[in-house]
Amino acid sequence: MEQQIETLRQQLKQQEKLASLGMLSAGIAHEIQNPLNFVINFSKMSNKLLSDLNDIMEDNEDQLSDDDREEVEDIIADLKENMGKIVEHGERAISIIQGILLVSRGKEDEFLPTDVNKLVKEYVWLSYHAMRANHKGFNISIHEEYQEGLPNVMVIPQDLSRAILNLMNNACYTLWNKAQKVEDDYTPQVTISVKSADNNIIIRLSDNGEGMTEEVKQRLYENFFTTKPVGQGTGLGMAITRDIIENKHHGTITFESEEGKGTTFTLTIPIKK
Ligand SMILES: Nc1ncnc2c1ncn2[C@@H]1O[C@H](COP(=O)(O)OP(=O)(O)OP(=O)(O)O)[C@@H](O)[C@H]1O
Ligand SMILES: [Mg+2]
Repeated sequence: MEQQIETLRQQLKQQEKLASLGMLSAGIAHEIQNPLNFVINFSKMSNKLLSDLNDIMEDNEDQLSDDDREEVEDIIADLKENMGKIVEHGERAISIIQGILLVSRGKEDEFLPTDVNKLVKEYVWLSYHAMRANHKGFNISIHEEYQEGLPNVMVIPQDLSRAILNLMNNACYTLWNKAQKVEDDYTPQVTISVKSADNNIIIRLSDNGEGMTEEVKQRLYENFFTTKPVGQGTGLGMAITRDIIENKHHGTITFESEEGKGTTFTLTIPIKK
Protein backbone atom coordinates (compact mmCIF):
# COMPACT_ATOMS: atom_id res chain seq x y z
CA MET A 1 0.00 0.00 0.00
CA GLU A 2 2.71 2.40 1.03
CA GLN A 3 4.66 1.56 -2.05
CA GLN A 4 1.62 2.19 -4.22
CA ILE A 5 1.07 5.56 -2.61
CA GLU A 6 4.68 6.44 -3.26
CA THR A 7 4.38 5.45 -6.94
CA LEU A 8 1.22 7.54 -7.27
CA ARG A 9 2.93 10.48 -5.64
CA GLN A 10 5.79 10.20 -8.11
CA GLN A 11 3.36 10.06 -10.99
CA LEU A 12 1.47 13.09 -9.78
CA LYS A 13 4.69 14.98 -9.48
CA GLN A 14 5.50 14.10 -13.06
CA GLN A 15 2.09 15.30 -14.26
CA GLU A 16 2.53 18.58 -12.42
CA LYS A 17 5.90 19.02 -14.02
CA LEU A 18 4.35 18.42 -17.42
CA ALA A 19 1.61 20.98 -16.80
CA SER A 20 4.05 23.70 -15.80
CA LEU A 21 6.24 22.72 -18.73
CA GLY A 22 3.26 23.41 -20.98
CA MET A 23 2.88 26.91 -19.59
CA LEU A 24 6.58 27.51 -19.73
CA SER A 25 6.81 26.46 -23.36
CA ALA A 26 3.91 28.73 -24.30
CA GLY A 27 5.78 31.63 -22.67
CA ILE A 28 9.02 30.74 -24.40
CA ALA A 29 7.27 30.29 -27.74
CA HIS A 30 5.83 33.74 -27.42
CA GLU A 31 9.18 35.31 -26.59
CA ILE A 32 11.01 33.55 -29.39
CA GLN A 33 8.63 34.84 -32.03
CA ASN A 34 10.05 38.36 -32.00
CA PRO A 35 13.75 37.62 -32.47
CA LEU A 36 12.81 35.03 -35.05
CA ASN A 37 10.91 37.66 -37.00
CA PHE A 38 14.02 39.83 -36.90
CA VAL A 39 16.12 37.02 -38.29
CA ILE A 40 13.69 36.41 -41.12
CA ASN A 41 13.19 40.07 -42.00
CA PHE A 42 16.90 40.87 -41.99
CA SER A 43 17.59 37.85 -44.19
CA LYS A 44 14.99 39.07 -46.65
CA MET A 45 16.52 42.54 -46.60
CA SER A 46 20.00 41.15 -47.11
CA ASN A 47 18.73 39.16 -50.03
CA LYS A 48 17.44 42.35 -51.58
CA LEU A 49 20.80 44.04 -50.97
CA LEU A 50 22.53 41.16 -52.73
CA SER A 51 20.32 41.71 -55.75
CA ASP A 52 21.37 45.36 -55.75
CA LEU A 53 25.00 44.33 -55.46
CA ASN A 54 24.55 42.02 -58.40
CA ASP A 55 23.12 44.86 -60.47
CA ILE A 56 26.11 47.07 -59.66
CA MET A 57 28.40 44.21 -60.62
CA GLU A 58 26.69 43.81 -63.96
CA ASP A 59 26.94 47.52 -64.67
CA ASN A 60 30.69 47.45 -64.01
CA GLU A 61 31.55 44.13 -65.57
CA ASP A 62 34.44 45.53 -67.57
CA GLN A 63 36.23 46.76 -64.45
CA LEU A 64 37.02 43.29 -63.19
CA SER A 65 39.01 40.43 -64.62
CA ASP A 66 36.92 37.45 -65.76
CA ASP A 67 38.17 35.34 -62.86
CA ASP A 68 37.33 37.94 -60.26
CA ARG A 69 33.93 38.59 -61.72
CA GLU A 70 33.09 34.89 -61.77
CA GLU A 71 34.19 34.53 -58.20
CA VAL A 72 32.13 37.47 -56.99
CA GLU A 73 29.11 36.17 -58.86
CA ASP A 74 29.52 32.75 -57.26
CA ILE A 75 29.78 34.28 -53.82
CA ILE A 76 26.68 36.36 -54.36
CA ALA A 77 24.79 33.32 -55.58
CA ASP A 78 25.90 31.32 -52.51
CA LEU A 79 24.93 34.12 -50.17
CA LYS A 80 21.50 34.36 -51.78
CA GLU A 81 21.02 30.65 -51.32
CA ASN A 82 22.06 30.88 -47.68
CA MET A 83 19.65 33.75 -47.08
CA GLY A 84 16.90 31.67 -48.65
CA LYS A 85 17.68 28.82 -46.24
CA ILE A 86 17.60 31.14 -43.24
CA VAL A 87 14.21 32.46 -44.29
CA GLU A 88 12.85 29.00 -45.05
CA HIS A 89 13.91 27.45 -41.76
CA GLY A 90 13.04 30.56 -39.80
CA GLU A 91 9.54 30.41 -41.18
CA ARG A 92 9.31 26.76 -40.31
CA ALA A 93 10.32 27.61 -36.73
CA ILE A 94 7.66 30.32 -36.63
CA SER A 95 5.01 27.91 -37.78
CA ILE A 96 5.99 25.40 -35.07
CA ILE A 97 5.80 28.15 -32.49
CA GLN A 98 2.42 29.26 -33.73
CA GLY A 99 1.26 25.68 -33.42
CA ILE A 100 2.40 25.58 -29.79
CA LEU A 101 0.79 28.94 -29.06
CA LEU A 102 -2.50 27.95 -30.67
CA VAL A 103 -2.58 24.83 -28.60
CA SER A 104 -1.76 26.51 -25.33
CA ARG A 105 -3.87 29.60 -25.94
CA GLY A 106 -7.21 27.80 -26.19
CA LYS A 107 -9.20 27.80 -23.01
CA GLU A 108 -9.79 24.44 -21.51
CA ASP A 109 -12.24 22.41 -23.55
CA GLU A 110 -12.68 25.13 -26.15
CA PHE A 111 -13.58 23.92 -29.63
CA LEU A 112 -11.78 25.99 -32.28
CA PRO A 113 -11.76 25.72 -36.07
CA THR A 114 -8.56 23.82 -36.69
CA ASP A 115 -6.46 22.69 -39.60
CA VAL A 116 -6.21 19.07 -38.46
CA ASN A 117 -3.60 18.16 -41.09
CA LYS A 118 -1.32 20.87 -39.79
CA LEU A 119 -1.90 20.03 -36.14
CA VAL A 120 -1.19 16.33 -36.67
CA LYS A 121 1.92 17.09 -38.68
CA GLU A 122 3.32 19.48 -36.07
CA TYR A 123 2.87 17.04 -33.22
CA VAL A 124 4.12 14.01 -35.06
CA TRP A 125 7.34 15.89 -35.77
CA LEU A 126 7.49 17.42 -32.31
CA SER A 127 7.44 13.95 -30.80
CA TYR A 128 10.02 12.73 -33.30
CA HIS A 129 12.41 15.57 -32.56
CA ALA A 130 11.95 15.20 -28.82
CA MET A 131 12.78 11.52 -29.17
CA ARG A 132 15.84 12.28 -31.26
CA ALA A 133 17.01 14.85 -28.75
CA ASN A 134 16.75 12.32 -25.94
CA HIS A 135 17.97 9.13 -27.59
CA LYS A 136 21.22 9.16 -29.43
CA GLY A 137 20.96 7.23 -32.67
CA PHE A 138 17.17 7.28 -32.79
CA ASN A 139 15.90 7.45 -36.33
CA ILE A 140 12.75 6.28 -38.06
CA SER A 141 11.12 6.87 -41.38
CA ILE A 142 7.83 8.73 -41.29
CA HIS A 143 5.27 8.37 -44.05
CA GLU A 144 2.61 11.03 -44.16
CA GLU A 145 -0.65 11.03 -46.08
CA TYR A 146 -2.73 14.14 -45.60
CA GLN A 147 -5.89 14.47 -47.62
CA GLU A 148 -5.71 17.73 -49.50
CA GLY A 149 -8.33 20.42 -49.16
CA LEU A 150 -9.70 19.33 -45.78
CA PRO A 151 -11.79 22.12 -44.32
CA ASN A 152 -11.02 23.41 -40.83
CA VAL A 153 -12.72 21.26 -38.25
CA MET A 154 -14.04 22.16 -34.80
CA VAL A 155 -11.83 20.35 -32.29
CA ILE A 156 -10.16 21.14 -28.99
CA PRO A 157 -6.67 21.72 -30.39
CA GLN A 158 -5.02 21.55 -27.01
CA ASP A 159 -6.44 18.09 -26.41
CA LEU A 160 -6.19 16.66 -29.88
CA SER A 161 -2.53 17.59 -30.07
CA ARG A 162 -1.94 15.87 -26.77
CA ALA A 163 -3.62 12.73 -28.10
CA ILE A 164 -1.41 12.74 -31.20
CA LEU A 165 1.65 13.32 -29.05
CA ASN A 166 0.73 10.40 -26.79
CA LEU A 167 0.22 8.04 -29.73
CA MET A 168 3.37 9.16 -31.49
CA ASN A 169 5.43 8.96 -28.29
CA ASN A 170 4.29 5.39 -27.78
CA ALA A 171 5.07 4.53 -31.39
CA CYS A 172 8.54 6.06 -31.18
CA TYR A 173 9.19 4.24 -27.93
CA THR A 174 8.31 0.81 -29.26
CA LEU A 175 10.26 1.41 -32.49
CA TRP A 176 13.32 2.43 -30.52
CA ASN A 177 13.00 -0.59 -28.25
CA LYS A 178 12.65 -2.95 -31.16
CA ALA A 179 15.46 -1.34 -33.13
CA GLN A 180 17.82 -2.08 -30.28
CA LYS A 181 16.83 -5.73 -30.11
CA VAL A 182 16.52 -6.87 -33.72
CA GLU A 183 19.09 -7.25 -36.48
CA ASP A 184 20.17 -4.75 -39.07
CA ASP A 185 17.56 -5.13 -41.77
CA TYR A 186 14.84 -3.45 -39.73
CA THR A 187 13.58 -0.03 -40.71
CA PRO A 188 11.51 1.48 -37.93
CA GLN A 189 8.59 3.18 -39.53
CA VAL A 190 5.52 5.24 -38.72
CA THR A 191 2.70 5.86 -41.15
CA ILE A 192 0.32 8.65 -40.39
CA SER A 193 -2.76 9.55 -42.38
CA VAL A 194 -5.53 12.09 -42.05
CA LYS A 195 -8.64 12.02 -44.20
CA SER A 196 -12.34 12.68 -44.05
CA ALA A 197 -15.07 10.12 -44.67
CA ASP A 198 -18.80 10.16 -43.92
CA ASN A 199 -18.65 13.38 -41.95
CA ASN A 200 -15.78 12.12 -39.81
CA ILE A 201 -12.14 12.97 -39.64
CA ILE A 202 -10.10 9.80 -39.56
CA ILE A 203 -6.59 9.88 -38.19
CA ARG A 204 -4.57 6.72 -38.43
CA LEU A 205 -1.16 6.08 -36.93
CA SER A 206 0.71 2.82 -37.60
CA ASP A 207 4.03 1.60 -36.36
CA ASN A 208 5.97 -1.53 -37.20
CA GLY A 209 7.16 -1.84 -33.61
CA GLU A 210 6.83 -4.60 -31.06
CA GLY A 211 3.05 -4.87 -31.03
CA MET A 212 1.10 -5.78 -27.89
CA THR A 213 0.56 -8.96 -25.95
CA GLU A 214 -2.98 -10.02 -25.06
CA GLU A 215 -2.54 -8.62 -21.56
CA VAL A 216 -1.43 -5.22 -22.83
CA LYS A 217 -4.36 -5.10 -25.25
CA GLN A 218 -6.76 -5.81 -22.40
CA ARG A 219 -5.29 -3.25 -20.07
CA LEU A 220 -4.15 -0.58 -22.54
CA TYR A 221 -6.60 2.10 -21.40
CA GLU A 222 -6.27 1.43 -17.68
CA ASN A 223 -5.02 4.35 -15.61
CA PHE A 224 -1.41 3.77 -14.59
CA PHE A 225 -1.00 0.65 -16.70
CA THR A 226 2.49 0.70 -18.16
CA THR A 227 5.07 -1.82 -19.29
CA LYS A 228 7.81 0.79 -19.21
CA PRO A 229 10.51 0.87 -16.56
CA VAL A 230 9.93 3.10 -13.54
CA GLY A 231 10.50 6.72 -14.42
CA GLN A 232 9.84 6.23 -18.14
CA GLY A 233 6.07 5.88 -18.27
CA THR A 234 3.20 6.92 -16.06
CA GLY A 235 0.69 4.68 -17.81
CA LEU A 236 -1.72 7.56 -18.31
CA GLY A 237 -1.08 8.32 -21.98
CA MET A 238 -3.69 6.02 -23.48
CA ALA A 239 -6.27 6.64 -20.76
CA ILE A 240 -6.01 10.37 -21.43
CA THR A 241 -6.07 9.82 -25.18
CA ARG A 242 -9.24 7.77 -25.02
CA ASP A 243 -10.89 10.35 -22.79
CA ILE A 244 -9.97 13.09 -25.26
CA ILE A 245 -11.29 11.25 -28.29
CA GLU A 246 -14.36 9.52 -26.86
CA ASN A 247 -15.61 11.81 -24.10
CA LYS A 248 -14.51 15.21 -25.30
CA HIS A 249 -14.82 14.79 -29.07
CA HIS A 250 -17.52 12.08 -29.08
CA GLY A 251 -15.41 10.02 -31.43
CA THR A 252 -13.98 6.53 -31.26
CA ILE A 253 -10.52 5.10 -30.86
CA THR A 254 -9.73 1.58 -32.04
CA PHE A 255 -6.54 -0.35 -32.55
CA GLU A 256 -5.15 -3.47 -34.13
CA SER A 257 -1.93 -4.90 -32.87
CA GLU A 258 0.12 -7.98 -33.54
CA GLU A 259 3.04 -9.04 -31.42
CA GLY A 260 6.31 -8.58 -33.22
CA LYS A 261 4.63 -6.84 -36.16
CA GLY A 262 3.25 -3.53 -34.98
CA THR A 263 0.22 -1.51 -34.04
CA THR A 264 -2.30 0.71 -35.78
CA PHE A 265 -4.49 3.21 -33.98
CA THR A 266 -7.51 4.74 -35.67
CA LEU A 267 -9.18 7.87 -34.34
CA THR A 268 -12.57 8.75 -35.76
CA ILE A 269 -13.84 12.21 -34.88
CA PRO A 270 -17.24 13.43 -36.01
CA ILE A 271 -17.10 16.77 -37.83
CA LYS A 272 -19.09 19.22 -35.75
CA LYS A 273 -21.33 21.66 -37.55
N1 LIG B 1 2.23 1.65 -30.25
C1 LIG B 1 2.41 0.78 -29.24
N2 LIG B 1 3.07 -0.38 -29.45
C2 LIG B 1 3.25 -1.26 -28.46
N3 LIG B 1 2.81 -1.09 -27.20
C3 LIG B 1 2.14 0.03 -26.92
C4 LIG B 1 1.88 1.02 -27.91
N4 LIG B 1 1.19 2.02 -27.35
C5 LIG B 1 1.01 1.67 -26.06
N5 LIG B 1 1.57 0.49 -25.80
C6 LIG B 1 1.57 -0.22 -24.50
O1 LIG B 1 0.56 0.29 -23.70
C7 LIG B 1 1.09 0.72 -22.45
C8 LIG B 1 0.29 1.88 -21.95
O2 LIG B 1 0.47 3.01 -22.79
P1 LIG B 1 0.28 4.47 -22.20
O3 LIG B 1 0.60 5.44 -23.26
O4 LIG B 1 -1.07 4.54 -21.56
O5 LIG B 1 1.33 4.54 -21.01
P2 LIG B 1 2.91 4.65 -21.13
O6 LIG B 1 3.31 4.98 -22.52
O7 LIG B 1 3.46 3.43 -20.53
O8 LIG B 1 3.20 5.88 -20.17
P3 LIG B 1 2.84 7.44 -20.45
O9 LIG B 1 1.83 7.79 -19.43
O10 LIG B 1 4.13 8.14 -20.27
O11 LIG B 1 2.28 7.54 -21.85
C9 LIG B 1 2.53 1.01 -22.73
O12 LIG B 1 3.32 0.90 -21.56
C10 LIG B 1 2.87 -0.05 -23.75
O13 LIG B 1 3.15 -1.27 -23.12
MG1 LIG C 1 2.45 6.60 -23.61
